[in-house]
Amino acid sequence: MRAASDSEASATGHRDPGAHGDHDGRQGVGCGSGATGSLGARRPGRDLCEIADLDVDETCALLSAARALIPLASGDGPRCSGCLVGAQVLSLFAEPSTRTRLSFEVAARRLGAQVVDFQHDAASSAAKGETELDALRNLDAMGFDAIVVRDRRDGYPGWLCSQLRARVINAGDGAHEHPTQAYLDALTILEAFDREPVPGAMQGLRVAICGDLRHGRVGRSNLRLLRTLGAELVIAGPGELAPASLAAEFEVELAPDLDTALAGAHVAMMLRIQRERLPATLQLPDDASYHSAWGLSERRLERLARGGVVLHPGPMNRGVEIADAVADGPRSRVLRQVTLGVAVRMAVLARACGVPLAQTCDDTGATR
Ligand code: CP
Repeated sequence: MRAASDSEASATGHRDPGAHGDHDGRQGVGCGSGATGSLGARRPGRDLCEIADLDVDETCALLSAARALIPLASGDGPRCSGCLVGAQVLSLFAEPSTRTRLSFEVAARRLGAQVVDFQHDAASSAAKGETELDALRNLDAMGFDAIVVRDRRDGYPGWLCSQLRARVINAGDGAHEHPTQAYLDALTILEAFDREPVPGAMQGLRVAICGDLRHGRVGRSNLRLLRTLGAELVIAGPGELAPASLAAEFEVELAPDLDTALAGAHVAMMLRIQRERLPATLQLPDDASYHSAWGLSERRLERLARGGVVLHPGPMNRGVEIADAVADGPRSRVLRQVTLGVAVRMAVLARACGVPLAQTCDDTGATR
């Protein structure tokens, strides 16, 4: 299924693969990092590789469409719809994932699309010497509408846009971006504070993003998105994980400690230490010491603004960045994030497959 014009595919900007500038040991592919932090120019249209791909109006339209899809995502309403019947989605996860991979799959299936998994591993023709790009070009020739990509290399999804016909959706690339996580976080915040998805929707909301921003992608995507929506942002963490250079890059307040960051915050977004991306030379405190200094405890929760909520993208490391009682407590929106993630990924898949966002609910033929 390919409902919208694809003339934009001919405007694809090809780039040569190669190493790009390395930040904090991040790995990348063929996409020089620009001053804006954007990894390469791509074709206009329906790919989603980073927050900068959508302007504020497109962002609000996406969030509105996702909000309308919440009954379908939560299982409280219709169980499936037909707006993506005939569409086929390739799922390419080369890094571990529970939430994102299954969330995209559930979203696609509930909209009527089919999902095919691929791993370029020993069970594929990689074992016979085929390159990953040759494999993906062959799969692309089978006519997939969209490819959902998670990869350790910064900018890999953006680079694939120049190589493939299928629309590319970034499901997390190295320490670069995780745009659908940020959209679901934004939807969760808007819902918690009863705000409409309109430009400036987060004005007056203070969001503290705490933990490992340096080696993670969720913090970066959220800093970009939540600022676009008008939030007041503060970051906090040990200097190795939330350095002043990152605060300067994003022009964001850096709190000296967690208590300061949380004071008056409407949202505490806790991020785990990205151990899989830490340089071997980096020395961090043990888990108990980290929790004592930088973990969100019940006592620290009291510093939040009235009605303040706690977000965590998962997977959580209980007893490290977040206490059990907080993760499972009344202010936690952690599982709501997961539900809203299905709605966001429905909207993102519909956009990628060329279904006008306004039609995702009106035209679904939803059934139980
Ligand atoms: N939040 C998130 O990306 O979780 P997974 O790694 O389980 O997909």
